[in-house]
Amino acid sequence: MLAKINSFGLEGIKGYGVTVEIDIGSGLPSIEVVGLPDAAVKESKERVKSTIRNSGFMFSPKKITVNLSPADTKKTGAMYDLPIALGMLYATEQFTCDELDLYGILGELSLDGNIKPVRGILPIIISALDLGCKKIIVPKANVNEASYIDGIDVYGFESLRQVVDFLRNPCGYEPEPKLDLAQFREERKYVEDFSLVKGQYAAKRAMEIAAAGGHNILMIGPPGAGKTMLARCLPTILPELTIGEALETTKIHSVAGLLDEKKGIILNRPFRAPHHTGSKVALTGGGSSARPGEISLAHNGVLFLDELLEYPRDSLEILRQPLEDNVITIARAVRTVEYPANFMLVASMNPCPCGNYGSKTHECTCTPAQINKYMSKLSGPLMDRIDLHIEVENVTYGDLASKEKGETSAEVKERVNKARQIQLNRFAGSGIYSNAKMNNQMVSKYCQLDEESERLLKMSFERLGMSARAYNRILKVARTIADLDGCIDIRVMHVAEAIGYRSLDRRVK
Ligand SMILES: Nc1ncnc2c1ncn2[C@@H]1O[C@H](COP(=O)(O)OP(=O)(O)O)[C@@H](O)[C@H]1O
Ligand SMILES: [Mg+2]
Ligand SMILES: [Zn+2]
Repeated sequence: MLAKINSFGLEGIKGYGVTVEIDIGSGLPSIEVVGLPDAAVKESKERVKSTIRNSGFMFSPKKITVNLSPADTKKTGAMYDLPIALGMLYATEQFTCDELDLYGILGELSLDGNIKPVRGILPIIISALDLGCKKIIVPKANVNEASYIDGIDVYGFESLRQVVDFLRNPCGYEPEPKLDLAQFREERKYVEDFSLVKGQYAAKRAMEIAAAGGHNILMIGPPGAGKTMLARCLPTILPELTIGEALETTKIHSVAGLLDEKKGIILNRPFRAPHHTGSKVALTGGGSSARPGEISLAHNGVLFLDELLEYPRDSLEILRQPLEDNVITIARAVRTVEYPANFMLVASMNPCPCGNYGSKTHECTCTPAQINKYMSKLSGPLMDRIDLHIEVENVTYGDLASKEKGETSAEVKERVNKARQIQLNRFAGSGIYSNAKMNNQMVSKYCQLDEESERLLKMSFERLGMSARAYNRILKVARTIADLDGCIDIRVMHVAEAIGYRSLDRRVK
């Protein structure tokens, strides 16, 4: 007898339909899995055999063929355990179900018959809905992640036995209740706060602009100036995620298997700080399991590269594509996968090998040749994609000892949220959420300058010898500064401030 179970596969962060067919034929006892299974899927047959026996069912020695279709996509992971086990039980007539074809089913089995959570439930549910599937059976531990999507009934179970009992008589069961995103929007508590950073007004202002417009930012300053501290404070002032952004980011963390089971959704912008000793694969994603890397986990949030020049050059080079296209393409054996990687890059570095170049209080002991060599490690193409460069000086004793309470992160965040709301309205329906992501066409449309601003910009280009690459960056940053100001038009003071955040243009040519 033949059994057919609807299941799903994952490609990048997209799901697609997979049919699991079980054919019980006559012949010598064997189990064969066909349809491009990976090692984990192949191992499924051994797990399923034990699980069926340990769940109180019969495993009759027969010639069993498991066919996963479509045949041309690689089936990865252990999520076909449950459909395969159910298919075998159905094909051997150990249960009947009139509406088996209405359900999408997936889950990993442990030998004792329990169902373990799987990766990628959220993107799968969204695709299932697109495919017209109205009911889905998932591991109980994945239920929360599955419960934000309307239009599909989700049933969560803990064991194979429970699923069989359900399928025998589904009308006695209610689907899992839907969760409301708003219920998790509680205020997050941070240990860091902008009010704890003494002085550094210029740096904090630049951070505020970067957060408001989603701009990439590089901090340059001597050791101990507070660069790392400033970056660590950034999450406290980032704008709220929109629901659309939250779902996008959650999909990626779901595929990576990194979601908090209780919440099942990401509602705060991620802040990822991979260490420079980490591998390139950890940064970009891929490898044998093709999981998303740090740059994708940072999607809609921050990728912080502290001490930028410590990172291997090829790790930095590889950031070029995602910084340009906001996705990363990973080559795999069968085909390539794409993961979103739309992050805000925050980086820090010393100005020279000794750290004191440009300092008003300490003398730089480096030779010009040493400094040139040091700066040449900064790859041009990477620099091209950074909107703001700022110099962070050591905080003065007066500022450090001051009892004056600085502005809190909550106050700054309020301004950031306002400026981001202006951008959300501006870009509604265009697929982007922030000024930093404007294409050239949008820049011409939304960043028009008056005569005075034009003149200032032209003069700066000539006097400071700025590169053409700086032009659009300055306009985008000026747009964000105007948004923070609540101004519809960009004014000369906004452009002047934006020009001030190009310190490297003045240094390296
Ligand atoms: N502006 C500041 N206000 C308060 N503390 C500061 C400030 N700047 C530096 N510090 C203190 O100095 C320490 C070192 O700063 P850090 O962020 O590690 O510097 P950097 O990354 O530039 O080398 C911080 O942990 C913090 O305790
Ligand atoms: Mg540091
Ligand atoms: Zn030096």
